[in-house]
Amino acid sequence: MSRLDPHSYFDTDQPRTHRLALEIAVDFQRQRVVGTARLDLGGPSSGPLDLDTKALVITAAATGAGQPIPYALGAEDPILGRRLRLDLPARTAQVVITYETAPEAVGLQWLAPEQTAGKRHPFMFTQFQPIHARSMIPCQDSPMVRATYHAAVTIPEALTAVMSAGPQEGGGSTEPGMRTMLFEMPQAIPSYLIALAVGDLASRDVSPRARVWAEPATVEAAAWEFAGVEEMIVTAERLFGRYEWDRYDMLVLPPSFPYGGMENPRMTFLTPTLLAGDRSLVDVVAHELAHSWTGNLVTNATMDHFWLNEGFTVWAERRILEALHGEAAAAVSWAIGGTALREAIERFGADSPYTVLRTQLEGVDPDDVYSSVPYEKGSLFVGLLERTVGRERFDRFIRAYIERFHFTSITTEELMAFFEQQLPGVAAKVGADEWLHRPGLPGNTPVFRSEALETLTVLAEGWTGGARPTAAQLKAWSPSELQVYLQHLPRELDEASCRWLDGALNLTARGNYEILVEWLTIAAGSDYEPVFGRVREVLMKVGRMKYLRPLFGALGRHPRTRALAREIYAATAPSYHTLSRRVVESVMEKYDG
Ligand code: BES
Ligand code: ZN
Repeated sequence: MSRLDPHSYFDTDQPRTHRLALEIAVDFQRQRVVGTARLDLGGPSSGPLDLDTKALVITAAATGAGQPIPYALGAEDPILGRRLRLDLPARTAQVVITYETAPEAVGLQWLAPEQTAGKRHPFMFTQFQPIHARSMIPCQDSPMVRATYHAAVTIPEALTAVMSAGPQEGGGSTEPGMRTMLFEMPQAIPSYLIALAVGDLASRDVSPRARVWAEPATVEAAAWEFAGVEEMIVTAERLFGRYEWDRYDMLVLPPSFPYGGMENPRMTFLTPTLLAGDRSLVDVVAHELAHSWTGNLVTNATMDHFWLNEGFTVWAERRILEALHGEAAAAVSWAIGGTALREAIERFGADSPYTVLRTQLEGVDPDDVYSSVPYEKGSLFVGLLERTVGRERFDRFIRAYIERFHFTSITTEELMAFFEQQLPGVAAKVGADEWLHRPGLPGNTPVFRSEALETLTVLAEGWTGGARPTAAQLKAWSPSELQVYLQHLPRELDEASCRWLDGALNLTARGNYEILVEWLTIAAGSDYEPVFGRVREVLMKVGRMKYLRPLFGALGRHPRTRALAREIYAATAPSYHTLSRRVVESVMEKYDG
């Protein structure tokens, strides 16, 4: 037996899934996905095959030819779920598992019509990274395993399904009121990149290879917000090589989507909080797009190497940003990331194992330790390598890296061996071992400066001493610069300060959630009553964890806001995604009193 992924029952001695075929129905009444999963193995095999499942009800297992396969479900592990062991008869090349999901499946969220923009139809979507594919599909749920897939998805006739795959002609209707949609994913991907969403969806083309999907009520706004995506694709191709996934479509989800974005291949999932109305938050699209190379082509072998996905992608995102908007804009993005990183390190403690890049998460739920560390410490390390060898050589390295490892899943050690081969001696020179294996931030952390940033931070840090921005300064700041300014203000201000800020900057009324939430975090943490209504409004609507954590955290500072937080959470918890609920509960557990 050899299990190399601490978050999967996948056994490297056993046959691997090469292709997956789903035939499923999405049952909104019972909040279940029901059907079969066929796993095609590399060739005829026999003996044990261990799959991951979580809260699945398995009703049958058979070979492709229909011969029953003996199977057993193991004991429930709180993180991994239950191992499904199949005992393959001789020369088994395909297994077909009949099953259904549980309403509480962590990888799915079922929304009532009231939770959508249109308020008329239900909605469901998946979020499988890091280890939730197993709650919808019995599979080898480790990024070490890559498979192509096909899906036939039966849904209510009035709705539309999208997947991280290409749509296929055919389908049709077998039952009255239902229709079946077909999908084909010809490129081998890890299970965490399988994705499905079903709802009342419309689409708009924004370029020959890019389309925006959303509910009809939001699709125009979404198409406008992301109209620049083709320029981003072209820029990214210039930097990282050809875009290999054919189409780059985007789906804007209802507001309970727990992340900003998810890089599902051919169909990036996005939070509607990006629809600021001024295209100021499209860096999230640049990020998800960049995953088309770093993450989806070259994939982390396990969650212990997650920084390979996110660190390289944040770095790539900022290179795209720099190419499109210049060095100063990229510096602002580095600054915002730096603040998030310092906060994360402070939250865990500077000597915490969760502040190392190459982690050891055996026995740890990756969702519980999700943070900015792999993103920002990771991107700083990549940025340091880039600075050390110079941009030209590093860009050549990145392209060679993607070419060498595309469509494979790799470890930190494999990256570093390749790096050493390409650029000998550099890793030792920058202290790569400390970067990868020690907690906290090394002394040679690169700094990204600009004059504008300097002015902003000095001004913000001088708040208590009486420093105030002039009207001209306020007018000149970009949304991201304003965000940097707010991030550097003291976390608690007196009432007059709050009033001044809101008056001068009209913060409570903002539609840019990065600014709005940064402000509400300060104001709520300052017990500033005029924002309580807006805080409630945001928390009742938005499930994006990045916003829930600071807001619920700030509400914990004062007795009256703690009461407010508890009241809001009691009212809104049922509408949150399971993962969002977990984050909020972990924050509220730390409230004193
Ligand atoms: N792949 C991540 C989201 C993710 C990571 C989901 C791990 C589950 C487990 C995605 O690419 C991401 O990083 N999203 C960020 C956007 C950002 C850094 C621009 C987010 O959601 O905030
Ligand atoms: Zn990412």
